[in-house]
Amino acid sequence: MATDKQTLRIGLIGFGCVGQGLYDILQQRPETGFEVARIAVKNPTKPRSLPLSQFDFHADDLLHDPSLDVLVEVIDDAAEAFRLVSEALRQGRRVVTANKAMLARHLPELVQLQRQAGGTLLYEAAVCGSIPIIRTLDAYFGAEPLRSVTGILNGSSNYVLTRMGEEGSDYAPALAEAQAKGFAETDPTLDMGAFDPRSKAVILAAHAYGTFLQPEEVLNLGIEQINAVDIAFAATLGRKIKVVAGLQRLPDGRVTALVTPLFVAPESPLYSVDHEFNGVLIEADFAGEQFLQGRGAGGHPTGSAVLADLAAIRQGYSYHYPKLTTSSPTYATDLELEIYLRTDEDRLIDALDFTEISEEADEDGYVVGYVALSNLLRVKELIQKFGAFVVRTGAVRPLTATTSALELEESL
Ligand code: HSE
Repeated sequence: MATDKQTLRIGLIGFGCVGQGLYDILQQRPETGFEVARIAVKNPTKPRSLPLSQFDFHADDLLHDPSLDVLVEVIDDAAEAFRLVSEALRQGRRVVTANKAMLARHLPELVQLQRQAGGTLLYEAAVCGSIPIIRTLDAYFGAEPLRSVTGILNGSSNYVLTRMGEEGSDYAPALAEAQAKGFAETDPTLDMGAFDPRSKAVILAAHAYGTFLQPEEVLNLGIEQINAVDIAFAATLGRKIKVVAGLQRLPDGRVTALVTPLFVAPESPLYSVDHEFNGVLIEADFAGEQFLQGRGAGGHPTGSAVLADLAAIRQGYSYHYPKLTTSSPTYATDLELEIYLRTDEDRLIDALDFTEISEEADEDGYVVGYVALSNLLRVKELIQKFGAFVVRTGAVRPLTATTSALELEESL
């Protein structure tokens, strides 16, 4: 095994925004002691910033090259990333990945593979770019119970919301800017539909609570349908709309996870997290509140997180998943959430079956009230289909006895 003094040979799989960011950092700072020895990419005809001779076109060749000390997987394709990373771990290798969709889907198997074959998988770059949130949860807060972990985990949607909310931009040009700056996923629906922060919330739940979730279990509502009425409504409350992932321990010890637009008050540290920045508020039983903020997207910030993982690997660090025990909390969805729903579709309001309505403005086309989380999960596609927009107020309560889970009619 390489010592502190040796240069580690990196096999880099993928040369997109993150791969190039890492490469550039290591070129600028050779004293970090990491050498990109081989780079594998899929497409031999795509124009690259380096000569073609520097690339391999078969990632498997890197997997089977024993001269490489660490593999860094930063490709887009989650299925292929899982094949490569799981094979590397089966060989007991040391791997760094930034692939949040792959991790969210396969974390239990990847943890097991590390335990079976003695390999190491680190993935700080997968959540909140440059913010060291996974190591903070896994190592520092490994022993302390957490009340909640609440964060803005997606830079692109936060960028669009900032440009629209405070800077008067329209949705489409703001999204185009986020794409041009390299913040957005290849398929920006993952950002704007809150699928990307949902993957990140699933990863955080494993470290914060020892609870493995399947992505589909977690409510994710995005901002594709946001319009000026919603932003004006938030302004009347003196709040900003942010896409916030909330992991919370309930009084009965179970945990819940939600990834939705939220009205954020100026008192919250998340209120001032703008543009591509991410922020995470940890509420720990004994430490109290801690807030981490930093760049959540972009080649250099994300490459910086990969660099931090490489340095940690050199020191023999691995995640311990300290909260992953036989008594890890179970996942709760039997809750009601207070939401603002902007729609002119009575069928949607009926389908959501509000248990309590506190405000209804027909002329502006919105309703504020409580709905069962199970109903929101069930009608998620309808919200999208009807061009409606949902923002949580932040209030959550146990399911009332009167709430019934509606079966949707075929016509909806
Ligand atoms: N598309 C992601 C974002 C990149 O906007 O946050 C960083 O994970």
